[in-house]
Amino acid sequence: MSFIVPLLVMNGLGLLCLAIIIFLKRVIAVYGESTLTINNDKKLIVEGGEFLAKALFQNKIYIPSACGGKGTCGFCKVKIKEGISDPLPIEEILLHHKDISSGYRLSCQVKVRRDMGLEIDEELLAIKEYQGVIDSSERLTRDIKRISIKIEEPKEGISFKSGQYILIEVGSAETRAYSIASSTRFSDRVAIEVKLIPNGLGSSYLHSLTEGDKIVFFGPYGQFYLRDTHHKIICVAGGVGLAPMKSIIDDALRRYPNRDVELYYGSRTMADLYDHELYITMAANYDRFSYYPALEKVEEKDREKYPVDEGFVNKSIAQYLENGENSEAYLCGPGPMIDAVVKILIKKGVPEIRILYDKF
Ligand SMILES: Cc1cc2nc3c(=O)[nH]c(=O)nc-3n(C[C@H](O)[C@H](O)[C@H](O)COP(=O)(O)OP(=O)(O)OC[C@H]3O[C@@H](n4cnc5c(N)ncnc54)[C@H](O)[C@@H]3O)c2cc1C
Ligand code: FES
Repeated sequence: MSFIVPLLVMNGLGLLCLAIIIFLKRVIAVYGESTLTINNDKKLIVEGGEFLAKALFQNKIYIPSACGGKGTCGFCKVKIKEGISDPLPIEEILLHHKDISSGYRLSCQVKVRRDMGLEIDEELLAIKEYQGVIDSSERLTRDIKRISIKIEEPKEGISFKSGQYILIEVGSAETRAYSIASSTRFSDRVAIEVKLIPNGLGSSYLHSLTEGDKIVFFGPYGQFYLRDTHHKIICVAGGVGLAPMKSIIDDALRRYPNRDVELYYGSRTMADLYDHELYITMAANYDRFSYYPALEKVEEKDREKYPVDEGFVNKSIAQYLENGENSEAYLCGPGPMIDAVVKILIKKGVPEIRILYDKF
């Protein structure tokens, strides 16, 4: 028995030392300054020990993030050519193994501990910070608001492609992604449409803003934007996924007189369907535009003004889309809806490469 006490004391001391080492490494480790070389050209001197995304952000390089750096979205991946470390377990989950072996890492998870060489798309290097003021906040449904932001800085405003999104500051060092719902014609303002998520940090903050409140955002981001082709345009939206479609449809009808546009829009009930009147009017005014609303639950009065289908949007696509071979599709909404719609579009002949989506 007499050897047990010293053994326990030694084990305890060992564990304490390990905890101190981990604490020192994680919390107060001082690495000095490190140099980040971007695209073999631009050099940034940054404080070692900082997360890579934060170090880049402090130098006005705004890497996208949809989770506020929690390590759940995978949006912040950056290619590290020199000074790379082994992937973290979270990176092995979120990144494709081909990306990992090509040198991609999550910049919100990787710490700068040595000099690093990075490869960053010119498009991302061009992302700017914008300062604006809320000029209107309008309730669209019980849980969706449309918020219009007038840009104050920079004076030249913003240039974006229809379908892209911005990252909005929603608290200290937290951002959330919102699709631009306004027309590309206007460079002095952007509108977003925000669904309130119970206890959601970003959506609660944005719903609380009123006219005159200041706002900071970054952008424009994303590969989900209207392509310059001759194909028919199929837009499929679920709930607040209608936001980028508004910008895409406006762009398509103005710029492409020979391209047909179809909007399939799904929601729960008529009370959750917004801009319904707008699309009914557009379908009446433009031969090239067709509108197919679908509700999970339809009441007889819902069909008084316009045909409304009962069921999910994939059912409407199955019914109305004749041949998808010469089409391209833009999908936005919840993951399960996107997955079901992709399947039916492929079945209808839309080439997979021409199906673009943002899931949220
Ligand atoms: C490219 C892109 C574009 C987007 N565009 C829009 C847009 O135009 N309009 C819009 O409203 N949102 C959009 N989003 C989603 C948006 O970025 C936020 O994720 C959303 O507003 C929730 O953020 P939050 O801070 O309120 O919730 P968080 O504080 O991040 O989350 C709070 C809790 O709610 C859960 N949660 C998060 N999202 C949902 C959800 N959708 N349904 C149910 N539970 C949820 C979380 O898991 C968490 O438990 C977009 C996302 C991406 C990636
Ligand atoms: S910001 Fe979401 S994983 Fe890095």
